[in-house]
Amino acid sequence: MIPQTYIQELIARTNIEELIGSYTQLKRAGRTYKGLCPFHSERTPSFVVYPDNQSFYCFGCGAGGDAITFVKKINNLDYVESVKFLASRAGMKLPEEDDAQGRLRSRVNALNRDAARFYFERMNSEKGVQARKYWRGRGLSDATIRRFGLGYAPDSFRETFVHLKSKGYTEEELLASGIVKKSEKGNLYDVFRNRVMIPIFDVRGNVIAFGGRNLGDEKPKYINSPETLVYKKSHTIFALNLAKKSASKRYILCEGYLDVISLHQAGFDTAVAACGTALTAEQVRMLSDYAEEVVLCYDSDEAGQKATSRAMELFESSTVKVTVLTLPNEKDPDEFIKRRGAAAFEQLLEGAGNTLEYKMAKFREKYDLRQPDGQVNYLKDCIELLALAATPTEQDVYAGRLSKEFGVEKRNILAQLENVSRINGRRRQRQIQRDLLKEGAAASIRLPVGISGEQALGVAMAQQQLVAALLKQPELLAQVKGKVAPDDFLQPELKEAFALILQREQDELPFDLPTLSGELSEASMAQLSKILAQNYEMTFAQEDIQLYLDRIQAGQTTSKAAAEMQPDQLAEYFERIKKRKQTIELSEQE
Ligand code: CTP
Ligand code: MN
Repeated sequence: MIPQTYIQELIARTNIEELIGSYTQLKRAGRTYKGLCPFHSERTPSFVVYPDNQSFYCFGCGAGGDAITFVKKINNLDYVESVKFLASRAGMKLPEEDDAQGRLRSRVNALNRDAARFYFERMNSEKGVQARKYWRGRGLSDATIRRFGLGYAPDSFRETFVHLKSKGYTEEELLASGIVKKSEKGNLYDVFRNRVMIPIFDVRGNVIAFGGRNLGDEKPKYINSPETLVYKKSHTIFALNLAKKSASKRYILCEGYLDVISLHQAGFDTAVAACGTALTAEQVRMLSDYAEEVVLCYDSDEAGQKATSRAMELFESSTVKVTVLTLPNEKDPDEFIKRRGAAAFEQLLEGAGNTLEYKMAKFREKYDLRQPDGQVNYLKDCIELLALAATPTEQDVYAGRLSKEFGVEKRNILAQLENVSRINGRRRQRQIQRDLLKEGAAASIRLPVGISGEQALGVAMAQQQLVAALLKQPELLAQVKGKVAPDDFLQPELKEAFALILQREQDELPFDLPTLSGELSEASMAQLSKILAQNYEMTFAQEDIQLYLDRIQAGQTTSKAAAEMQPDQLAEYFERIKKRKQTIELSEQE
């Protein structure tokens, strides 16, 4: 269990808009930030970050939570891993990473390095002839082999193991590295046998894993290290340790290790590949730390094209500019380079060009630019496009170009751009509000099976408001305590939250959103963020709380009380409830 004080410090040191801003581009909107949701694909932003209460919420897909939930969701980590992730980002000592764990980690790093050396030596030994031939056959030079630290795992179940053991590594360390496995009989044996070896480095240059390729066509083509203490596929980009040293900020993202190696040899030193089967949000974020532009250069087969569209979606909300390179006839960049050479690849890269320019060229074909109204319409289209799809720098550059070409003041073009952006933004905002109204906030409340009806919705809504109030203004709990119990809550997510709030209050611990996330389910966190988002501007008064409490109580007693009432009493009773309901609705509309 991580101590609450640790979490509090972590939250204090984490700037949520900065954290989320490294996954999706955020624009300030008053006290909040808006951007494209990194959890679903969208073209207009419905994702909002609320620095005041350290939360985020997407009005499009309902994803929500605090910084820790965000890291959990986007990186597919568990709670403790997410805390560690944020801790290392904030420069804090990791919680409960006792010295034993840290020691094992650094031993595994050392072991991996020794294994890589061993594979390299084996390749250069007598027994490595086939491996040397293999790499030659793939067109790789000695310099390239050395640069990537390529090697060869001998055709034996014990050689690597025996070698590493002689270097003093324990059984625990060997198993933790993933290079050695234990058989059913309990014997240790080498995972990589008779394979050419490709070490995988982390950004800092530690060897953290290996890919071992078959020398022939037998399957499986590759055996890869399992995930270990030091290797998380979804957080690793092959050759990023090399690419980050390049002067170029234009990265080439390919599918295969060998594509990357080939491209580097041909002089394209920003080639990288994502480890694991599919590109992840964390890999996109890592790339955005180094790259300004990423050229997608996947295989030309169907799988490669699918991966391309997936990658484009992932990059959509990042700060990186993405272009796609299409290979005309070859299956992958490795084959292209071999057949047509580096200069031809360079040309392809240039042609990958930029989608803005491509689209503007299309607009050009639409109009007669010798006519004034043709020019006006062309400018209008361009301004729409730039407002929608260009970065501020791009907007500036293209505004300059358009201004020169048509003799319009750049100032005016920029002003129009801003105008269009503003109108788009407002339109979007109104749309969000309309959608919310149309659904009725109530329609989005999911109630457990067996509970239904207007009445229940009304109660659930009042309960939502109540919890939102408590999260925002903890002092209001005094007014609520003893009047409602966790079991009164219709939505399980709120029941869970309210129970925890009471517990926290009893233990004299804080219960603002970020401190709750360790003990609440993801569904509950999302629900809480939602009601916080809906009440962002709201300050609750004691009268509000009373109203919610009344509403909740009325709902509970109706059925019980109504069963015993005379018809005229019943009518009066419903009249009273209706009045109350109207008052609540009025206050909710404000
Ligand atoms: N891959 C894997 N296991 C496999 C096949 C592929 O892990 N059985 C991964 C490897 O990271 C590989 C990438 O998917 O680099 C792309 O696969 P592929 O194009 O088949 O491999 P290449 O590295 O391009 O190898 P080659 O050029 O020899 O086909
Ligand atoms: Mn390939």
